Amino acid sequence: MAKTKTKYVCQECGYSTNKWLGRCPDCGAFSTFAEEAEVVRSSGRYTGITSAAPLKLSQVTSKEQSRTKTGIGELDRVLGGGFVQGSLTLVGGDPGIGKSTLLLQVCKGLGERQKNILYISGEESVQQIKMRAERLDIDTDYLSLLSETDLGIIEKVISATEPDYVIIDSIQTMFIDEIASAPGSVSQVREATSRLMHIGKGKGISIIIVGHVTKDGSIAGPRILEHMVDTVLYFEGDKRASYRILRSVKNRFGSNEMGVFEMTGKGLKQILNPSEFMLAGRPKNVSGSVVTCCIEGTTPLLIEVQALMSYTSFNMPRRMATGIDYNRVILLIAVLEKRAGLQLANYDSYVNLTGGIKITEPSLDAAVTVAIASSFKDTPVEDGTIIFGEIGLTGEIRAVSMTTKRVSEAAKLGFKRCIIPSASEKEVSGIKNIEIIGVSNIKELINAALRPIKKAKES
Ligand code: TYD
Ligand code: MG
Repeated sequence: MAKTKTKYVCQECGYSTNKWLGRCPDCGAFSTFAEEAEVVRSSGRYTGITSAAPLKLSQVTSKEQSRTKTGIGELDRVLGGGFVQGSLTLVGGDPGIGKSTLLLQVCKGLGERQKNILYISGEESVQQIKMRAERLDIDTDYLSLLSETDLGIIEKVISATEPDYVIIDSIQTMFIDEIASAPGSVSQVREATSRLMHIGKGKGISIIIVGHVTKDGSIAGPRILEHMVDTVLYFEGDKRASYRILRSVKNRFGSNEMGVFEMTGKGLKQILNPSEFMLAGRPKNVSGSVVTCCIEGTTPLLIEVQALMSYTSFNMPRRMATGIDYNRVILLIAVLEKRAGLQLANYDSYVNLTGGIKITEPSLDAAVTVAIASSFKDTPVEDGTIIFGEIGLTGEIRAVSMTTKRVSEAAKLGFKRCIIPSASEKEVSGIKNIEIIGVSNIKELINAALRPIKKAKES
């Protein structure tokens, strides 16, 4: 009998070699190589989307993608109008964040639209799923449950029943007999997804795959699934806080959007006014707290940035950042020292976006800077102020996208004063009931922010 060939695969990025390596030359991770049996069967190419000869654009007939709404408005918006027939969707997130709950709730909406759903769980027994469904008030005849992890059997069941939707919860528990490595390893996860894609695209079945994010923030074999699937949704949030953020980070059928949900005793509830929700319980008129407006997808979202500067007698001050890029905070502190003359070298600095949200948008710069300056000078930014703008290395305040949307959202929520990059001032001159202050450098920014709001003249 022929000897089974094995190879060594990096469990981080999927890079494979013939011998064991301590460090992956591709992604640079250490001690990530594991021995895996080579897959003999080629992962059968799906031929439904390929054609033998090239066609002129005008010769290609386009057909309207048929979509099914899930009945959960925010999810439909994130998906770009519902699930597309025959699409492959990946729902990622930390264990316990609410992926299974969300998908069970999706089943309710799909069932109401007469779609047959096959829910395959490798983690829970059908009794457990039933109990959860009862708790969520889901009672539809269109939903079938299966507790199974062997992909060979799953393929047979899908072929025999031909449902409209298949939910795989989770891809890390599925295994293929022909592959020797353990479930959850790169080859298992990749091969299982490719086989599911094959069957889904071939039969026009929409497949939704759940993937747990591993501790370093990536779905096991991290990005190896993202390029295969049509849509990638990530579910994130602080498990201790009740709200959850659903983001589409890749979507072949729409733009990248974000929706906010709240985990309640009866499952996930959509939050239609996320800004109000994020700002609830915020302290008013205390130093170190600043409200800013960022844009997620196309949705404006008001959030609070907090900073605490405290004197330290150690040589190396501590710098901490939660929810925002650490290096960006270091950079802004350097700009503050050099361009605004604040002596921050003897101060520990802690910067935090409240509520466990993570934002990478540069428009946050101005708010972070003001929060640091406000805490350092122990001077509050008066309640009712909103600040946004990008900061450059020379201390200049640069314009950011969608200024009008941001200012309108602030005005809608009753904010009185908006400090924005001076380059964008003209854009928003038409917005009523809010004072607009344009600033062009970091000194102007801090002076404007720490000044009290002008009282509106009585008329
Ligand atoms: P779950 O959907 O099982 O997470 P995942 O599939 O992403 O691992 O969510 C589990 C958590 O959600 C659990 O800690 C309990 C909580 N939960 C509620 O608060 N309310 C509910 O109605 C349900 C079903 C779960
Ligand atoms: Mg689950």
